[in-house]
Amino acid sequence: MKKIAVLVSGKGSNLQAIIDAVENKTLAHISIEQVIADRYCFALERALEHDIPAYMIEDSTQISEEIHEMLQNDIDYIVLAGFLSILSEEFCQNWNGKIINIHPSLLPKFGGIGMYGKHVHQAVIDAKESESGATVHYVIPEIDKGEIILQQSISVAENDTAESLAEKIHTIEHILLVEALQKLSH
Ligand code: GRF
Repeated sequence: MKKIAVLVSGKGSNLQAIIDAVENKTLAHISIEQVIADRYCFALERALEHDIPAYMIEDSTQISEEIHEMLQNDIDYIVLAGFLSILSEEFCQNWNGKIINIHPSLLPKFGGIGMYGKHVHQAVIDAKESESGATVHYVIPEIDKGEIILQQSISVAENDTAESLAEKIHTIEHILLVEALQKLSH
């Protein structure tokens, strides 16, 4: 059994995909031990709904230290599922090889500082890319640069907008994140 903590900042649809996969035994060897948010967000409600211990850190300049304190020391993987704060170098090194992130583009394209949410999809549209996608990768101090675990592409239609692209990519993210956890839990 692999114990995971999920870090969130938003709607939590990726968290929900993990919860569903654990409950329907697609992720039979994963246990969600903790959900930690860096702000109030709907993802916290999803955790509480499923009786998963959920914590919120508010307005903190010491976010990485606080998360480190909160994490059970038997956590096998920390999953960043739409988590918007930047984790410190020390945190990344402490948990080296144990932090994974889902990013809504085909990394190394469209990653790095400022490349989150709608900004990613708008940049893809502006660059007239014919494809985009999602990437699950290990987290290292250099933003969005860690080793890729899984990647899935989709084609970008001529009439796609940042919104329509976000929607299409969200659907594949949910599948990809569960597949990545399946891979890591074997
Ligand atoms: C996803 O697009 C994810 O790739 C990005 O933030 C978004 C989170 O969505 N890092 P949700 O909160 O899981 O619905």
